[in-house]
Amino acid sequence: MSEKQARIRALIDAIHRFMKPRRDTAPGVDMLLRRLAETDMRESGFLDLPPHHSRHDAILTDAIGRIEAPGLLDIAARLTAAKEDLTWREDDNRYYPPGADLGEGYRRCNLHTLLIGPDACGWHHPDFRLGVFMLGPHTLYRDHNHDAPELYLNLAHRSGWRLGSGGWRDYPAGSLIWNAAGAAHATKVYDHPFLSVFAWLENVNAPCAVIPRDDWDGIEREFAQHQYQGLQNAID
Ligand SMILES: [Fe+2]
Repeated sequence: MSEKQARIRALIDAIHRFMKPRRDTAPGVDMLLRRLAETDMRESGFLDLPPHHSRHDAILTDAIGRIEAPGLLDIAARLTAAKEDLTWREDDNRYYPPGADLGEGYRRCNLHTLLIGPDACGWHHPDFRLGVFMLGPHTLYRDHNHDAPELYLNLAHRSGWRLGSGGWRDYPAGSLIWNAAGAAHATKVYDHPFLSVFAWLENVNAPCAVIPRDDWDGIEREFAQHQYQGLQNAID
């Protein structure tokens, strides 16, 4: 096993260690653990894509450095160690139909890497994706759904979520978010970047759909003002 392979494997193992005692605490954890168990992580299944840094590398470094919950420090250390090995990509809307608009904030700063999946930089699995996902500060990730059931582990200190037709609610670091197949969800990112572990547990090639809600304009206007103020402060 190469050193690179060992570092990516150590990150996956840290995620596994976090999830294992939580099998009964949230829907989706059991399925994630089963998916991990069935993933062939022998050397022959390692896809070994070349590392890729993104234009958002400084924000990513900041986001990882902000992980401070004791239960997440193991994942944070493994992520720090493997960060330079990983293929970091921006979402190019490939899973959305033409014209679907996730919002200006999302386009401005989204980033992910895949540790396991059909197109991962780690290990291959045809119908399971495990990765790390980041959004820049002051971002609305608009309401959307997909046939892939999805589990998030929030690494960021605080993030806002709207699940289904419910209201907005803030979730702390270490919380798990379960989005059943077809269930709508949206995310709000406040003053610091959003960082999470995410898994798509099946149907990973099914398309996503954007689901319009009438509060997007107000939220995006407020976030745009924060962005503008941040630029002004940087200039002054
Ligand atoms: Fe999603």
